[in-house]
Amino acid sequence: MIVFLSPFESFDERLDALGSTTRRAWDATWGHSTPDAVAAAATADGPLVVVVGPGVDETVGLTWVEALARLRQDISIVMVGDLRTDLVVNAMRAGASDVVAPNVSHTELLGTLDRARDAATRRREATIVENAERGRGKVLVVLSPKGGAGKTTISTNLAVGLANEMPGGEVALLDLDVQFGDVSHAMNLVPEHNLGDAAAATRNGLDLTTLKVFLTHHRSGAFVLPAPESLVQAEEVNSEHVKSVLGLLSEHFPMVIVDTSAGIGEHALTALEFATDVLFVASPNTPNIRALRREVEAFELIGLIGASRHLVVNKTEGRGGISVGEIESTIGLPVTYQIPRSRGVTVSTDEGIPILEDGGRDPAAKALRELAVSFAPGGVNSGRATRGRKKA
Ligand SMILES: Nc1ncnc2c1ncn2[C@@H]1O[C@H](COP(=O)(O)OP(=O)(O)OP(=O)(O)O)[C@@H](O)[C@H]1O
Ligand SMILES: [Mg+2]
Repeated sequence: MIVFLSPFESFDERLDALGSTTRRAWDATWGHSTPDAVAAAATADGPLVVVVGPGVDETVGLTWVEALARLRQDISIVMVGDLRTDLVVNAMRAGASDVVAPNVSHTELLGTLDRARDAATRRREATIVENAERGRGKVLVVLSPKGGAGKTTISTNLAVGLANEMPGGEVALLDLDVQFGDVSHAMNLVPEHNLGDAAAATRNGLDLTTLKVFLTHHRSGAFVLPAPESLVQAEEVNSEHVKSVLGLLSEHFPMVIVDTSAGIGEHALTALEFATDVLFVASPNTPNIRALRREVEAFELIGLIGASRHLVVNKTEGRGGISVGEIESTIGLPVTYQIPRSRGVTVSTDEGIPILEDGGRDPAAKALRELAVSFAPGGVNSGRATRGRKKA
């Protein structure tokens, strides 16, 4: 995606001609915001290219270019301004890859944007390829028998929390709730591609280079492969596709998080073949806990889980309700983490900002951060676990 920071509404028509992945962003408060705040807002959706201008004061624009370049090495920055030598030199020094005149021709602008996008894509790919050399890492699969227990909340926050702990493009998040996945809403992403595209590409033999094109970069640093956009596209995704995708992701990212749909579906079972850790999520109420017991028993019976198992009770209340002791004795697993019910989480879901991005002292954010840190290098759950299914 390409974002133009420009107050000129009249510029929108021109942007339409540049393609659907180009948009204009402008906020009246930017005049008094710090350059870092403007840069953070401009890169919120993980664009590949940010264009400063037209219509931005030169001196102000240069401070924005500098902030963008400092905060996000993986984007290309283009500045719109007079092609005077001093401005071009200053823009390049601040970190712009190109400067174009306000009256640049359509063809020239297209060429500049293509170059900028290619350069940014190459830089992002380089960070992933580096990881490939570090060998196989962890695959965390998040499961729950019933809907609404908090799988997506936990998966997206794990991705953000772990990306924070493991900077440098080491974390991938796969939305395997193929029919109704909402990871991209929970992270406010506008993905250009999704798992459906990756599945379609496996026909020609999916390789890492192709898969990388389908990933969307979240501002936390995590790479996301969202669920298909439509039910029709979801129907096309089969377990062989999931195997190819997860095989590549787990080979190349030290940390892969998999969100799933409620219950024991075909895709969740496939994901378990790759899992080093399974996080069972349940709300502290009797139907949820009973269902989880049945799920855990089913996995035991078919000898499915060789991976480490973690029991996360989400939406715990201060008093009343089913106790941790009861939950543990019902399920037969120790409760590894408890995440309190918090209004902050509900708001963060609605806003599409995982609470670990700016949760501050919210009690649920604190618990989610601890959960994420436990899987990061050096954390209590960082040890290597057996991957996949138990051998019979
Ligand atoms: N600790 C919490 N405190 C308050 N609200 C929460 C908490 N965890 C999750 N929620 C809210 O519960 C709702 C369901 O959460 P979420 O989407 O993560 O569940 P899910 O297991 O992924 O559901 P589904 O099975 O439908 O995919 C969301 O509105 C979310 O904001
Ligand atoms: Mg979900």
